[in-house]
Amino acid sequence: MSVIKQEAAEMPPSLPLLASTVTFGRDPIGFFVKSYRRYGPVFRLRAFDFNLTVMLGARAHRAIFVDQAEKLSVRSGYRLLLSVMNDALLLADGERHAQQKRLVQPAFHVRRIERYVEFMHRAAERRMATWRDGMVVDVYEEARRMTLEVIMQVLTGADISAEYDAFARTLTYTFDYATKPNIQKWVRLDLPFTQYRRNRLARRQLDSMLYTMIARRRAEGGHGDDVLSWLIAARDADGSALSDAQVRDQVLLLIYAGHDTATCSLAWALHLLGCHPEALGAIEQELKRFGDSSRIGMAELADLVQLGMAIDETLRLYPPVWIGLRGVEADFEFNEWRIPAGSSLMYSAAASHRLPEVFPDPLRFDPQRFAPERKARLDPFSYIPFGGGAHMCVGKPLAQVELKVLLARLLSAWRFEPLHCGPVPMHYNPTLAPKHGLPMRLRRLR
Ligand code: HEM
Repeated sequence: MSVIKQEAAEMPPSLPLLASTVTFGRDPIGFFVKSYRRYGPVFRLRAFDFNLTVMLGARAHRAIFVDQAEKLSVRSGYRLLLSVMNDALLLADGERHAQQKRLVQPAFHVRRIERYVEFMHRAAERRMATWRDGMVVDVYEEARRMTLEVIMQVLTGADISAEYDAFARTLTYTFDYATKPNIQKWVRLDLPFTQYRRNRLARRQLDSMLYTMIARRRAEGGHGDDVLSWLIAARDADGSALSDAQVRDQVLLLIYAGHDTATCSLAWALHLLGCHPEALGAIEQELKRFGDSSRIGMAELADLVQLGMAIDETLRLYPPVWIGLRGVEADFEFNEWRIPAGSSLMYSAAASHRLPEVFPDPLRFDPQRFAPERKARLDPFSYIPFGGGAHMCVGKPLAQVELKVLLARLLSAWRFEPLHCGPVPMHYNPTLAPKHGLPMRLRRLR
């Protein structure tokens, strides 16, 4: 892979093809930061037929999210997802997107989220009931169970704890098959034991489950507290409602976008706090003031300042959505460069969050960076774990409440001791996850 500065009058030196491919494969975030230092906020990656412009830093984000957003398309950026769903927020541009957002966004209003807090408490209690003092658990897997349970309750009202394994497998399989390179997608051998056949079966199971839920809600008149009921009842300004297929697509995107992201954030936060006793101590002091953490609700969350800072810092170092993609529909100009229509563009929250001029000593976990007075001084486009502009994460208010409630419950009752602190092998597709899980030893606090 070579790095070439965009449309340069003079070609800057490019990294040796083999050496940079290896560096990129091993540590893409470090590779982006290094390339930023060498070439500035815009550079191209090229390998074989792969040609992509990478843009980093606050000014670049502002151009992508706001100033020139109309020249970009999320639908073509995330086109791999089109094989799973066709008509959902992250696959719609322009007016179509604005219309869908008007329908979906109110389902995540804080007043509605208040009703979901009990699901978060219940999911934490269920997992904690299976834990014993001194046992080693993979906190990534534990976080996945909690967040999948929460998201399914919030979205569909369904308690999937009994069918967790089968559901999680079907979900992972469907999205992995769609988004990861796989030759069987093109060969399409519909035979027993081929991945193509297994994917078709997984898709059928997922569809059957979602359409059954939709039919049940419609029969009940769409009354219910969950997001599914909201989508069924929602009407646009012209009175039009979403079809079953549109409701299915939106719900599937919400499960996809809302589940892995929360899983990674929760697991990384537990790991980082385990490795940084000072930050953990400040949170434990704060939690002690509440006494019984099972009573923590929306009203108390604002007072958990130290916990909020630690979550912000976790999302800086490990933003689950570590890259974002856009197709370029019309020539895009930035500084002296032109990114031509028809090409692809990528931004990386993970790399931009590690620029030392914005976040000094960037690899250090330091929640104090997000102390309220310091956070207020940050350029909002330099810290973008939830994206920005029209496609800003619709689930942000839910995720923020969920992370705080789950962490408050877990950290009030258990100490999470890491078996290992230091660099963790990562998995980059599609979210920023630990490659081999995050094993931690549990110590009961009371
Ligand atoms: C810590 C948790 C989360 C993080 C870090 C996160 C991050 C993001 C980011 C960066 C984007 C923008 C992608 C882009 O512009 O290319 C996004 C979009 C989106 N997120 Fe989240 N997300 C989280 C949780 C959730 C949850 C809980 C839900 C829903 C239940 C959700 C639903 C969505 C949807 C539907 C979009 C597309 C919005 C649009 O296109 O208008 N996310 N998220």
